[in-house]
Amino acid sequence: MTYLIRGVRVLGRGEPVDLRLRDGVVAEAGPGLAAAGAAVVDADGLVALPGLVDLHTHLREPGREDAETVETGSRAAALGGYTAVCAMANTDPVADTAGVVEQVWRLGRAAGLVDVQPVGAVTVGLRGERLAELAAMAGSAARVRVFSDDGHCVADPRLMRRALEYVKTFDGVVAQHAEEPRLTEGAQLHEGEMATRLGLAGWPAVAEEAIIARDVLLAAHVGSRLHVCHVSTAGSVEILRQARERGVQVTAEVTPHHLFLTDASASSYDPVFKVNPPLRTVADLAALRQAVVDGVIDAIATDHAPHTVEDKECEWAYARPGMLGLQTALPVALAVFGPAPRRSRSSQRSEPGEAAPDVWQLIAERMSRAPARIAGLAGHGRNPAVGEPANLTLVDPAARWTVDPAGLASLSRNTPYAGTELPGRVVATFLRGEPTVLDGKACR
Ligand code: DOR
Ligand code: ZN
Repeated sequence: MTYLIRGVRVLGRGEPVDLRLRDGVVAEAGPGLAAAGAAVVDADGLVALPGLVDLHTHLREPGREDAETVETGSRAAALGGYTAVCAMANTDPVADTAGVVEQVWRLGRAAGLVDVQPVGAVTVGLRGERLAELAAMAGSAARVRVFSDDGHCVADPRLMRRALEYVKTFDGVVAQHAEEPRLTEGAQLHEGEMATRLGLAGWPAVAEEAIIARDVLLAAHVGSRLHVCHVSTAGSVEILRQARERGVQVTAEVTPHHLFLTDASASSYDPVFKVNPPLRTVADLAALRQAVVDGVIDAIATDHAPHTVEDKECEWAYARPGMLGLQTALPVALAVFGPAPRRSRSSQRSEPGEAAPDVWQLIAERMSRAPARIAGLAGHGRNPAVGEPANLTLVDPAARWTVDPAGLASLSRNTPYAGTELPGRVVATFLRGEPTVLDGKACR
């Protein structure tokens, strides 16, 4: 099928154009293209972005198909504007062999809604004792390049060093969940005033910063690539800034929730706000936002972490950490980096494409191009242009919507944004020229 996208503003710039998608690529771009048998998608007022790429998604299959499956998570991703996601390895069984990563990869192909790129575990069973078969996973059909024990830190410095050395041989990257375990035993919430007030054990910023500092030194020492997952503190940003200035090969991501929410949310005692690393302070949030603008933080990644009602809606201390993110990431990014909402009623609907001059560039870079580069996903993270793979998403910048957990595609309901009004809605997503979402609804 050929599609003609009519009157879209590519990255919110310039005059609206038409895009013809044929044979998986953008075949033609320009004003007033003839339909010539193509299915026409009216994109009046919409912005075209490169399909979003998520470096950090928990799809829960195999093992916890009651919380999410590759298919339901892929659907949530497509509806959120994504064309590729990296599926974290903390499944059951753990994705620490070629067999399991190939299984996840095949399930992704079968669902056909986004490219599902499995992440391989760094250590067997995420136990932090010995290295998993990294080369076998790299050489498998899934072609794994990103390795992470996410959910756990690779705490042993010697294992971390070996992992960094090993991935160098196939241009892989180790994605670290930075958390010194001895400093976070029993931790429930950011170590600060709120944790003291609620009587919850604190998760100190230094537990993250100490590991990032160590790993930056290790990456420099062995000349390998380090990626830091879900950076959450101002101190981490400073360490990363210095590492970049010294030319260390380190990249970093931040989640939408660490850009938008603080530990003040926990005053409700609602475990929907429990996440690892925890929500931090207003000062951390400001430093993280600035780092996204500066580029010290390369990517915004969801850490989409679905959990069942049984695992989440219980006493704070027993609740699993984690929040849904795929369908709210782009709207939260627009809320954070877009223009401030205006007061007057008439201007509540901003003009299509008007959202701050460079917010679309920033979002395309941090949510598509940079994550595609970091994960080595050729074919993703390319601006919609003639000859490029037709992986793109169409966004209505003027739409505002209120998050209703029941309306999300995930099997789980643990969104911290229930009842929150957010800007921007994904209208359509195309994967290699075929729609996965049209009129805001999943095609499969
Ligand atoms: O909040 C989190 N949830 N942080 C992690 O590191 C793991 C994740 C999960 O798997 O639920
Ligand atoms: Zn993590």
